[in-house]
Amino acid sequence: MTHRANFLSSGLSAEILGLPNTDGPYYVVDLERAELGLDLFNKAFSSLNVRIAYSYKTNYIKDFVLYLYDQGCFSEVVSPFEIGLVKSYGIPVKQIVYNGPLKTTESISSVLRSGGLVNADSLDDLELILSLVDRQSFINKTPRVGIRLCIDEGLNSSRFGILASPTNIRSAKSMFDFYNIPIACIHFHYPARSINGFVSKVRSAFTIIKSMFPGFTGDINLGGGFPSKISEGLRLQIDPNYLLRDISEYGHALTSLAKEFDLSSTSFILEPGTALAANSVHLVGHVLSLNDRQDYTIVNTDLSKTLTGGLMSEVDLPFAHLTNSVSENQSRYILSGFTCVERDIISPICHGSVPTKMDKIVFPDVGSYSFVFKPSFITGAISVYVWDGKTLRKSSRPQTAADINALSVI
Ligand SMILES: Cc1ncc(COP(=O)(O)O)c(C=O)c1O
Repeated sequence: MTHRANFLSSGLSAEILGLPNTDGPYYVVDLERAELGLDLFNKAFSSLNVRIAYSYKTNYIKDFVLYLYDQGCFSEVVSPFEIGLVKSYGIPVKQIVYNGPLKTTESISSVLRSGGLVNADSLDDLELILSLVDRQSFINKTPRVGIRLCIDEGLNSSRFGILASPTNIRSAKSMFDFYNIPIACIHFHYPARSINGFVSKVRSAFTIIKSMFPGFTGDINLGGGFPSKISEGLRLQIDPNYLLRDISEYGHALTSLAKEFDLSSTSFILEPGTALAANSVHLVGHVLSLNDRQDYTIVNTDLSKTLTGGLMSEVDLPFAHLTNSVSENQSRYILSGFTCVERDIISPICHGSVPTKMDKIVFPDVGSYSFVFKPSFITGAISVYVWDGKTLRKSSRPQTAADINALSVI
């Protein structure tokens, strides 16, 4: 067994190596890693009252989502489709935080009636949500309606949320007053993952809340944008200036800002996606054939950049090469994807023991926006396996041509 990077547990590596290649490449949901990641996240924010709402869009693989639900996490969703996933996974709709501009009247009513939280993305969205609160269903209950705000940064402002100008805030408040409904949540989400970006976002958010919503007692939702633990090889490529710090630094920063703004007893909602998912999912594939060039070898695999998060990615992901044979062939090679796209080269510069047919290639830590960008490009979506620290079991099969055809309505 040779590794270019040694980052899978030895138990999982052995299970992968022993698994016959029956139905192509697959994702592995690594519940040992999920536990570790959630534990670190919880510890980082343990001095505050924090509810985690996991962001489904990052990766809604059933086994991972159910694990987080069992650990007490809520579901952050942004579409009727994602609400459908919550329901079909058997997770209570009451535990939904519903964001984004892609809402339908049915999905809003369903979340509100179940006691879930719906955050308006615009004043139009707010009017629609409030108008859907039917008094009959809320005789002894308060509907949970919040607003997402956008910090004014001129042309750099986010395209999501209600711009936090005095006029807009006045309009939003008067709508809540008109319907006699309290503001359940004020939501901010900024994708910048750096610690400095986080501190400045939280400071702006708290300043807006204190100055424009005096006496606000609802939830403050600070969205996602938290970093995952990344390997050193990856960090040097995507974060050379070390701006993505350890999650504990985000916890310290939030705790001290909450103290400074007298918000220590507030209920916070955090919506991590990447921070929980990235290290919890690995991708496993196989070497299909070798194709020699003058001074290097093309190693064709059943993997593709489309399975790691997108063809356009320039990141050279670290991988592990698992084999039972010792190859004498030390040379230069590239790991090539199965699609017909020339640039689908998953690893362009490899030196060392050239993999041989049916060796296994593992890309660890590809849990952020990979499975959800599921392609049916050339092949269908791939299987999922689950590793619980002891056994590796199959959880879902690959998508077939018949699955695609089954969607046909004529
Ligand atoms: C509203 C909202 N919350 C949470 C997330 C998750 O972000 P991340 O993966 O950076 O944690 C996103 C991602 O786009 C988002 O739009």
